[in-house]
Amino acid sequence: MSKQKFFKSLAAEVARIDSAHSTKRQEKLISGFIKDKPTQTIIDGNKYTIFNSNDYLGLRHNRSLIEAEHEASERYGTGPGAVRFISGSFDIHRQLEKSLAKFHNREDAIVFSSAFAANLAAIFSLSKGQSKDSLVDNNTLVISDELNHRSIIDGIRLANLPSEQKLVFPHFDLAALEEILANNASRFTRSVIISDGVFSMLGEYQDLQKLQAIADMYDKEYEQGVLTIIDDCHGVAAFGKTGRGTEEVSLGTADVLVGTLGKGFGTDGGYVAANQAVIDYLRESAATYIYSNSITPGTAAAANQAVNLLDSTEGQALLQKLESNVQLFKEEIKKIGIEMASDSIHPIQPILIGDTEKNEITNKGIIQAWILSYSNQLSGCA
Ligand SMILES: Cc1ncc(COP(=O)(O)O)c(C=O)c1O
Repeated sequence: MSKQKFFKSLAAEVARIDSAHSTKRQEKLISGFIKDKPTQTIIDGNKYTIFNSNDYLGLRHNRSLIEAEHEASERYGTGPGAVRFISGSFDIHRQLEKSLAKFHNREDAIVFSSAFAANLAAIFSLSKGQSKDSLVDNNTLVISDELNHRSIIDGIRLANLPSEQKLVFPHFDLAALEEILANNASRFTRSVIISDGVFSMLGEYQDLQKLQAIADMYDKEYEQGVLTIIDDCHGVAAFGKTGRGTEEVSLGTADVLVGTLGKGFGTDGGYVAANQAVIDYLRESAATYIYSNSITPGTAAAANQAVNLLDSTEGQALLQKLESNVQLFKEEIKKIGIEMASDSIHPIQPILIGDTEKNEITNKGIIQAWILSYSNQLSGCA
């Protein structure tokens, strides 16, 4: 009976979420795509144009990725069979890591099952000593932008540092970040600054040139310096002339870059790109890498193809098309008087939809008409 009481309280919580209209479990099931139209889906037998996917370049339907995935599955099988250090490491995993390192101009990269897993591990490992024998102490000051992604928040939670070692600065307020670094100089062995590159809600991005300059300025004030970790999941393969993301757009370089393969790169998985010391240490300490399967060999092969494709003429053309789609979207949405929540130049274009109960926007029929007239021009990319 007591267990039934627990289940009842779980059901009550779900009912509370439903009545607050914030449910996420009523998922729309996509049953297919219209051939050669990566943004046209079938849901419940009806055709929809999706504007809310993160497959920014439409790469998940790219023939060369599908073929690479197929060939690798034929050769290695459909799953890794074990975690990396046992027998789940394939040459295609390593090749992908080398391609990512080259793409981001870093010494090495390490692939995880997701960027969420990459963030959890990178933040935990780089802010917390691993065991009583570890040579890395946990006297780290972690400083985080207040609107960082949930995986960063959870990574900091997991590290379980005392409250004076995990400080938050107001969103984009780099003066506040500098003040924190100044006020805490010499109190901690090192400081780690963590931020999203592109923020997923408004499509705005952190000024990495300024952020890195601040980190460099205070580097000598901490015995082991000031390290920056940037999660640019929405920037890589989506933002910047060559798809290098926020680093390219805001002219700054992170010490540790976290990316996903599951958005612009059109496949699945996450990664960290950094110098050799960081990557070697993560391979020895990152629990979500050591004790959890990596991506399948097929996914690794498709992702490797995606990374290489980005620097080809095809990749460059897709990036240009994406950029012009963003321009077109911004111009046209302005003409029909839809209010935007930010002036983003990134493919994330947040529309203020008003009161969903009253269906304020859709009742006007504006969005449907707009989508009908522009979906053909916009298709091909997100
Ligand atoms: C900023 C940011 N970081 C990390 C993630 C997690 O990426 P993944 O799906 O590869 O776990 C997301 C995904 O929504 C994201 O938006």
